[in-house]
Amino acid sequence: MDYMLQWRVLPLLTLLASFLLLFYVQNSSKSSHKECSLLPYQHYWITSKRIVTPQGVISGSVEIKEGKILSIVKEEDWQGKSKVGHIVDYEEAVVMPGLIDVHAHLDDPGRAEWEGFPSGTKAAAAGGITTLVDMPLNSFPSTVSQETLKLKIKAAKERIYVDVGFWGGLVPENAFNANALEALLNAGVLGLKSFMCPSGINDFPMTNASHIKEGLSVLAKYRRPLLVHAEIQQDSEIHLEAKDGSDDAHSYSTYLKTRPPSWEEAAIRELVAVTKETRSGGLAEGSHLHIVHLSDSSSSLELIKEAKNGGDSITVETCPHYLAFSAEEIRDGDTRFKCAPPIRDAANKEKLWQALLEGHIDMLSSDHSPTVPELKLLDDGNFLRAWGGISSLQFVLPVTWSYGRKYGVTLEQLALWWSERPAKLAGQELKGAIATGNLADIVIWEPDVEFDLNDDYPVYFKHPSISAYMGTKVSGRVLATFVRGNLVYKEGKHAPAACGVTILAR
Ligand SMILES: *[C@@H]1O[C@H](CO)[C@@H](O)[C@H](O)[C@H]1NC(C)=O
Ligand SMILES: [Zn+2]
Repeated sequence: MDYMLQWRVLPLLTLLASFLLLFYVQNSSKSSHKECSLLPYQHYWITSKRIVTPQGVISGSVEIKEGKILSIVKEEDWQGKSKVGHIVDYEEAVVMPGLIDVHAHLDDPGRAEWEGFPSGTKAAAAGGITTLVDMPLNSFPSTVSQETLKLKIKAAKERIYVDVGFWGGLVPENAFNANALEALLNAGVLGLKSFMCPSGINDFPMTNASHIKEGLSVLAKYRRPLLVHAEIQQDSEIHLEAKDGSDDAHSYSTYLKTRPPSWEEAAIRELVAVTKETRSGGLAEGSHLHIVHLSDSSSSLELIKEAKNGGDSITVETCPHYLAFSAEEIRDGDTRFKCAPPIRDAANKEKLWQALLEGHIDMLSSDHSPTVPELKLLDDGNFLRAWGGISSLQFVLPVTWSYGRKYGVTLEQLALWWSERPAKLAGQELKGAIATGNLADIVIWEPDVEFDLNDDYPVYFKHPSISAYMGTKVSGRVLATFVRGNLVYKEGKHAPAACGVTILAR
């Protein structure tokens, strides 16, 4: 091309290219909007005999418009109302607020072969979870700074099927650096998370009571919580290193003895000394401490009750695996059940249920903590060397329901433990309840439908073989999941596009 021709043709080409681009952008945004939902309506009604609202279970309809709940109408008030828009009738199926999982490890970026945003959030959607909050560790790098949070947000972009928020990490490196912590909080983490024992991840070191105190004083200003893994290493009967490699390492009871309840108790004793400052008038007033995955239902729980009674701003969660399984049932070598703190005996499990039913345990979370099967050492069965963590993300609703039926668990309690209280912890005022004005985050499910979690069952998280739930029978089938009004999952099918939103605190 000679110089003059280039001079004449280039502007034309540029003009043509920009027209094409404009056309493409308009079209793709139009089609992607449609691909966010399996239901082609912006204004519609969900009707059912069992809608779980904060005022109880009602028969009626929920009106949804542009992603929000516009109105809720009881069946008896339905007559005479004009039904503008499409109606989806779910008959006897339960309509409940979508679950909010405040404790999940999606390992993306950096260890996406362990899980990943697409697989993890597809599993969440299939399990009725509409929002999850991703833990700051097990991905690489850990989310401990403004910069590393940006990597998370970038990795999640257009790859999440449900809404995802992020906890930031409180580690020794940033704990005494208020500027660094504020930068991380300003960038949008919903709160911080720290460990009082080694986390198992090199770039996520543990914190002591001084770090936690510093963290709470910064969080107070932001009115956001600190989540803590509450175990402190004590001299235990068996030392990991001493027995590693011997036959004992394959027995679950060996592992159980390496992490006795006294580890949890020691950590919580230190924590409740610090949380006194969260009381009204205290130095950390406005901050909140949340204890993750409580397993010990004895002394640890008593300390938490006392702190609550004293006015400390403190809550506690436990996980379905502590409520479903007991140490007595775990076969030697079955490392799928290894997690920390460990699953304890049946008597401990009974007391956990009682504490949950009586309101001393505030909420539930999955602590979905996967890895690659090789690190779970399923063939070798060495409990002391295997990766600790239970994969459960897609199953938490049927599991809580199935194991809870014996205790008379109600639909309202499920909504309280899995939606309402988690929403409050994560600072999500427009989530966690089927209420007018809230985001239309909804799960539709059939409590009485039983199914086997076997090889034929469609599991969307990456490594079903390492999940302790495979091989069990549960009841409670998820029919449909709506996130911000988009039908993102329906009976084995996901919406074509991943339109979940990254939730950033402001
Ligand atoms: C916690 O560790 C820091 C060092 O990172 C140290 O300065 C501080 O004294 C320790 N606090 C406690 C209570 O051990
Ligand atoms: Zn965890």
